[in-house]
Amino acid sequence: METLSTLAYLVSSVCFIMALRGLSGPDTAQQGVTYGIAGMAIAIVTTLLNVESWGMIIWGVLIGGTIGTVIAKKIEMTALPQLVAAFHSLVGLAAVFVAAAAFFNPEAFGIGLVGDIHTSSLIELSLGLTIGAITFTGSVIAFGKLQGIVSGKPVSFPNQHAINAAIGGVILFLIFMLCTTQSAFFFWVLVLFAFVIGVLIIIPIGGADMPVIVSMLNSYSGWAAAGIGFTLQNNLLIITGALVGASGAILSYIMCKAMNRSFISVILGGFGGEEAGAAQDMGDRQAKIGSAEDAAFIMKNASKVIIVPGYGMAVAQAQHVVKELADTLKKEGVDVSYAIHPVAGRMPGHMNVLLAEANVPYEDVHELEDINRDFAQADVAYVIGANDITNPAAKNDSSSPIYGMPVLDVEKAKTVLFVKRSMGSGYAGIENPLFYADNTYMLLDDAKKMTENIVKAFE
Ligand code: TAP
Repeated sequence: METLSTLAYLVSSVCFIMALRGLSGPDTAQQGVTYGIAGMAIAIVTTLLNVESWGMIIWGVLIGGTIGTVIAKKIEMTALPQLVAAFHSLVGLAAVFVAAAAFFNPEAFGIGLVGDIHTSSLIELSLGLTIGAITFTGSVIAFGKLQGIVSGKPVSFPNQHAINAAIGGVILFLIFMLCTTQSAFFFWVLVLFAFVIGVLIIIPIGGADMPVIVSMLNSYSGWAAAGIGFTLQNNLLIITGALVGASGAILSYIMCKAMNRSFISVILGGFGGEEAGAAQDMGDRQAKIGSAEDAAFIMKNASKVIIVPGYGMAVAQAQHVVKELADTLKKEGVDVSYAIHPVAGRMPGHMNVLLAEANVPYEDVHELEDINRDFAQADVAYVIGANDITNPAAKNDSSSPIYGMPVLDVEKAKTVLFVKRSMGSGYAGIENPLFYADNTYMLLDDAKKMTENIVKAFE
């Protein structure tokens, strides 16, 4: 039975690897999901066949599964990042609970006796515990920031890095003490310090840098799961945790590169100490306000239009009507493409998912580095519900919190049409000087309504 289980776990690990491979491209994504489901089904069935009593498990699956299903059905797509953060916090907390269970009842886990736990198991347990506790409080703070319960602005205080480093040192000391004394006192003090450092790592991260944090916490939750795997001596959990940990770390690295941030400082919670929201003084500049009819006229006379979708398109669920607008323009002989910024919206790939849902052809959709130089030849940049990802302050204002982040060069188009509801700022909370540029028209309305009106104006 044990050999068969090991084989089944191996097959399910291979399925997970194939799932990750499939999910790396839109064409193979569905296949990837199928592999993921198959891997998870094999893992669950094998685990169930290996346990003696199903009572508690069935209750857990029923209660947890019901709560998860209700939440997943109700959740708005725009709120997915905070949901993911909330779920990561549960993985972290589970790691803490498993570590506590193993520490106080080691016999049940086959890792020794109370006060006489094998040293290797103690090291694994304390690492899983620490990463789990950091993931828990870090994810709770990230959830609060993304949900707007905690201020999204970076919280900084004097000697922040030195204090974080000192707490890191104390944690290492506590792990050492826990492993050498096996005292419950050191166990709980370690939990406490790990909880504290989880909070301190996330609070200095502000506004536009949150995407990296979500993927970083994803990575931490994977390592926490791998830690639980060591404690439970479950190879599948170790492999799956390591896959999640490594892929989360790679995603964080890619996002750091996309946002021009240092990976190491993110992992250590070091960046984001900048002053947030330094609103630029726009003086008396007046923005030009346009109408749907103006926009239709300008676009009808264009030969190249680049659509730049952002978070507001997701909120308004305007992707279908955007596709309708693009089809109308194409019929008029206009060359239409879409420019996707790596952190547009509120989760990685957010815009790609929405555009795919509206059946926008993949070949029309281009990543920032592939399309940025095309703006100079474009007649119109149709910016729909996007803001931070177009803000030129990232290029020319070194005091801006988003300085250094690559942005879409929409201002290089002959005309920029900005669809949003107000002159308000985006996620990073900073003014966008582009609203007041000579070649910009602000189309102030809900993204879906405005685009519908433009399509109507064409007719
Ligand atoms: P934002 O900078 O947040 O701008 C979105 C704009 O959409 C807002 O200024 C808002 O202006 C407008 N809007 C909201 N609802 C709308 C509606 N119904 N109709 C029309 N407009 C609407 O978004 P972005 O340009 O996509 O940039 C993304 C930001 O989120 C970046 O700062 C990024 O770092 C951050 N972030 C990204 C992620 C990931 S992974 N993508 C995760 C967390 C955070 P009005 O209120 O005036 O309408």
